[in-house]
Order: sequence, then structure tokens, then C-alpha cells
Amino acid sequence: MTKLEGKEFIPVRLSTLRSDEVVPFDVFIYVANHQIHYIRRGDPFEKNRIDSLRSKGVHKLFIPLECEKSYLGYLDAGLQQLQNASMAVEKRTTIANSTLMNLAGSADRAIETEFRYRDMENRVQKVLGFLGSENGIARKMLDQSGVAQDELQHASNVNTLALILAEKVGIKAPKDLLTLSMAALMHDIGKVGLPIDPKTPREKLTLPELELFKTHPQRGADMVADKPYINPAIVSLIANHEEMGNGAGFPNKKRIETLPLVQQVLNICNEYDRVCTQQCATAFQATKLFFLEKVGLFPLPLVQALAEVLKTG
Ligand SMILES: [Fe+2]
Ligand SMILES: [Fe+2]
Repeated sequence: MTKLEGKEFIPVRLSTLRSDEVVPFDVFIYVANHQIHYIRRGDPFEKNRIDSLRSKGVHKLFIPLECEKSYLGYLDAGLQQLQNASMAVEKRTTIANSTLMNLAGSADRAIETEFRYRDMENRVQKVLGFLGSENGIARKMLDQSGVAQDELQHASNVNTLALILAEKVGIKAPKDLLTLSMAALMHDIGKVGLPIDPKTPREKLTLPELELFKTHPQRGADMVADKPYINPAIVSLIANHEEMGNGAGFPNKKRIETLPLVQQVLNICNEYDRVCTQQCATAFQATKLFFLEKVGLFPLPLVQALAEVLKTG
């Protein structure tokens, strides 16, 4: 939540707004310390206006907090289209990707009540249904998303890659895939509220910042642990998502091979996407670097499965 000029707003990503469709909520942009009422509720968001914002590098818009329900209804209307085979796949993968980013960005509020959490689960189920509806959809989503530019895109990419890898290594039960997907979207929830710039690469954090950063897995697990409606497996996946190698991760320096396979899948995808995001300009360079430097940190069959996934989709 963001407070602008005394009013409460929630940030929404530009990519979640569909061109030439009426938006049932007010949309604001914030430029040069000024809040501009960009679209009025009931007006269409014309494609040229979306393109113009994109060309200026504006990716984040704001809607008043009281419009959140309308915004969620609008997102759900998009989700209904995922199984609509007459809609272009690119449009549907855009909806799925932007839904995942939105869910990752609102997870800290979704965990507050069972009602909100079940809503999040229902939306995740719809994306999972879309992913399973046709071969290669998940890969198309990843290719379209590209290298993550921020934490939300990171969560979304980790989610999609982890779901592909999970299937590849034999994790196929719908309830396990739902658990993995929810955990992937929330795995870094413990970073919310930490006084660290999320854009600073881990290697460039000061020592006190690094110590604080290393608390985020347990902090995240603590945020969800007291919620009876959240599967304890998710708590555990969040708590252990930075563990790797033979005690090379944090916070508890666990051996990766002692952790459940679904945890290993989440951890390798998280580390792979981190390398993509923070160390390299292109996914190709990142892939090379990852396999050079990280090969010993995960069980070899899993590394091989990931390599295969990245090569063939
Ligand atoms: Fe993390
Ligand atoms: Fe992460």
C-alpha cells in the first residue's frame, strides 16, 4: 500500500491492464512528485495511451484502495478468458503472467484472511489450469516474460519455471503443484518491509544489510506460520528456499539433498532466476554462468533436468 498526498493507493502494473477495454476503477500515475488522474472509471484504456506509458518507462500505476475490489473483478474477467481458445495465445500468456505478478505483489495482504487467501488460491488454480491445457504454454509464458526486472517478475518466473521442472522430475499431483505454485509466488514475502533496496544485488549489500537480508526466509515463514488456512508445507518451502549445496545456503545451512524434492525444485529455480536477474544481461549468459558456478550446489539429476528444460522447453 502506498500513501500519496494523504490518500491510500495500491500499485498496479501496467501490464495487468488490457488495451481498449473499459476500466471499472480510477487510474492514477505519479510523475515528478505529482499525482495525475490518468483514466476515469468507466473509460476505456486506449492502446495508444498504454503504449505511450510503456515507451516512457512507466510500469507502475496507482488505484485508490477503495477500488481494489473492482480491480480484482477486472483481473478475474481476464482470467476467465484463459481457456478461450479463440483468443490469441500471446494475449492469454500476457494475462497469466500479469496475474502471477499481481498475486505475488498482493500476497502480503492475501495472507491476512482466509477469504482473501482462498481467492488467491482460486486465481492460481486458474493459471495452473491454463498451464496444463496445452503443451508448451509455460515455456511461452517464460519466454514472453523475459529476464525479471523486479521482485514480482522474479516470483512469477520462479513459479513458472518451477512448475515446468516439477513435472519433468515427476511431481504431478495437482495438490503438490498448487502448493509449489503458492510457495513460489510467496517465497520472498519476508522481504516485504525490510529496509533494503530490492534492486541492490546481494553481492553489493553491506555486511549489516546482508545479515538482515538473510533473515527473509524465516521472516516470511513466520508471516504465514500462524495462519491455519495455509498449508504447513508452504511454510516450510518458504523457510528453506535459500538452502543449497552442503550447507552453502541460509539461514540454517541445510544440505540440499536432505530436503524434499519439491523444495529442491523451488530452490534451484529461485537461484537460477536470481542469477538471470542480478548478474547478466541476457538469459543465455545467465544460463551459462549458472551451470558453470552453481552445478555443485544442487543434485546433478536436478541440474540436468533444469538444463534440459531450459534447452528444449
Ligand atoms: Fe529469497
Ligand atoms: Fe527469490
